[in-house]
Amino acid sequence: MSTSRIAVVIGGASGIGWATAKALAAEGCTVTIADLNTEGAQARAKELGDQHNAVTVDVTDEASVQQLFEQIGRVDVVVNCAGFGGVGLITELPADQFRAVIDTCLVGAFLVIKHAGQHLGEGGALVSLTSLNARQPAVGMSAYCSAKAGLAMLTEVAALELGPRGIRVNAVSPGFVHTPLTEPVLSVPGVLEEYVENTALGRAGTPEDIADAVVFLCSSKASWITGEVLDLNGGAHMMRYPNVIKHVMNLAGQ
Ligand code: NAI
Repeated sequence: MSTSRIAVVIGGASGIGWATAKALAAEGCTVTIADLNTEGAQARAKELGDQHNAVTVDVTDEASVQQLFEQIGRVDVVVNCAGFGGVGLITELPADQFRAVIDTCLVGAFLVIKHAGQHLGEGGALVSLTSLNARQPAVGMSAYCSAKAGLAMLTEVAALELGPRGIRVNAVSPGFVHTPLTEPVLSVPGVLEEYVENTALGRAGTPEDIADAVVFLCSSKASWITGEVLDLNGGAHMMRYPNVIKHVMNLAGQ
């Protein structure tokens, strides 16, 4: 990767985004960490060094996303890690909670691709974070599964639309990765064990497992790859997803 590349990592203050920001900086990119968490983004940018920056952004707010890309100007690499989930059975889930997940994980991803797509040029690369749940349904995760499946298809449409301008659009689909997002779920007895049993490689992922693949997809070594939704899960996509709700109910004694 050339030393002059300008990268933005949205959701870069935590977990997979932070690991990706560090990995891109190590490859010589100048990185902007953009996140809803202003203090977190500033602290992370400081940790990376003087040439790196922090910007506050809310991917659910189009004006905020537009302003982010106008402020950065030329950009070569965009990685969107903003996202969250939640659990609840469909028959009990408030519609507002369903909408909130769709708003961040799918509409937010659309807004990032829309505005990044106006600033990326020939040789540019965009990677979104979808999920194993884009292809594997999970009891109690209707909103997240729907949003991430939508994002997988959005990635393919965007790759078709931006390809003629030399811009590559890909996504990665992690299984369970240890981050602040998954800590509450992975600490429920039985969840991690059931995930690991349903992998070929016998472990959950690390943020670095994902960052390595994202850096590859953003690099010139991936110059013929676009519209790809890459499974990163230790082989879990060949088996079945844990029943998270069952383990939560067991914990609650129900
Ligand atoms: P995390 O919670 O550690 O980091 C997410 C970051 O996104 C946080 O810094 C948060 O402040 C930021 N963010 C949230 N909403 C935002 C918004 N509206 N605008 C801007 N920033 C916002 O989560 P993690 O685990 O690093 O996840 C990153 C991405 O990877 C998410 O899209 C998640 O759905 C996806 N993913 C994670 C998996 C895991 O096991 N950790 C598995 C599959 C997918």
